[in-house]
Amino acid sequence: MTEATEIPVIGNDKVTTVSIPVKATRRIVLCNECEDGSYRRSTKRKVRVGNSPTDPVLIPHECKECGHEAFIEAAWVELVWENANLDASRNMLRDQYGHAGVISLIWARTHNFGIGHKGDLPWGRDFPTDLKWFKAVTTHNPKALLVVGRETYEGLPPLPDRQFAVLTTSVSEKTPIDGTEGNGYYYPDIPTLLEEHSETDLIVIGGGHCYKQWFAMADVVYETIIYGSYPVDVFCPMLNADNFTNLDSHCVKNCDDTGKPVVFNIWLSNRAKGSIEEHIIRDRWNFKVEEKLFPEKFTTISE
Ligand SMILES: NC(=O)c1ccc[n+]([C@@H]2O[C@H](COP(=O)([O-])OP(=O)(O)OC[C@H]3O[C@@H](n4cnc5c(N)ncnc54)[C@H](OP(=O)(O)O)[C@@H]3O)[C@@H](O)[C@H]2O)c1
Repeated sequence: MTEATEIPVIGNDKVTTVSIPVKATRRIVLCNECEDGSYRRSTKRKVRVGNSPTDPVLIPHECKECGHEAFIEAAWVELVWENANLDASRNMLRDQYGHAGVISLIWARTHNFGIGHKGDLPWGRDFPTDLKWFKAVTTHNPKALLVVGRETYEGLPPLPDRQFAVLTTSVSEKTPIDGTEGNGYYYPDIPTLLEEHSETDLIVIGGGHCYKQWFAMADVVYETIIYGSYPVDVFCPMLNADNFTNLDSHCVKNCDDTGKPVVFNIWLSNRAKGSIEEHIIRDRWNFKVEEKLFPEKFTTISE
């Protein structure tokens, strides 16, 4: 008899339940301590599925022997879509506050939409190529405000020349970060932020909670895909060509940082298509990935 486990998955505009038949599960468990191959059923963990039938799904589980975190690589599974209205209300939130700036999201993800592990990046901090890209996107428009969740903000190194709007429920009103006005402000919720910044360009820099809440409001997504096997426990929304148009894509083969290919994408959302935001993104705000990553190739030497 085939046993199955139901796991809730957050989709870009839907909540999904994935059924993983145990018999179809490849038992590749990555617990370093005892390399145990067994797994426990869990219905509480959220997992993200890959975007093609060949992408594996990494499901976090406790190792049976030692209780450490282990991972199961499951075979591709069929999705059952439910509750299609989850993010429609967030889209309306933007309209309700008449937000007229450009809303961008920037993330770096694994091939199966993982963005974080144990409070850090899955691949660690030592990834200069992506940091260069992050800096280019977040400093390109000096008037833009970086929107960030409290957890991610606490793990950030100092990022000069950028202003932050940090979301946290620990304040009840807009409050200066560190008691000074230099870095930006804490905001208790998204409506308070949108109300004050109805015309400001916003760049959402994470983490998982924030991407999920802002995804339906996004005009543009700057995405890095880092190939490789990394354990992940935080995920970004599933972006695909049905709801976004690719404006630019650049693959760095054998990236110096990872030895593997890394892809940089700029995506325009369907909601922004044909809008004033699209013109702003294309004419003033958008730029070519390669030009920002390898400016030396584009420098004109004046005589
Ligand atoms: N790969 C990437 O591109 C990338 C980028 C950024 C982060 N990350 C990773 O993502 C992980 C962190 O993500 P996360 O989802 O755990 O946390 P997060 O989104 O960074 O922060 C969550 C916290 O933000 C606050 N918050 C979020 N939405 C709010 C709202 N609408 N109103 C008020 N407060 C709100 C809450 O803070 P309080 O608890 O204070 O109320 C919440 O606990 C880390 O592993 C990090 O390394 C990856």
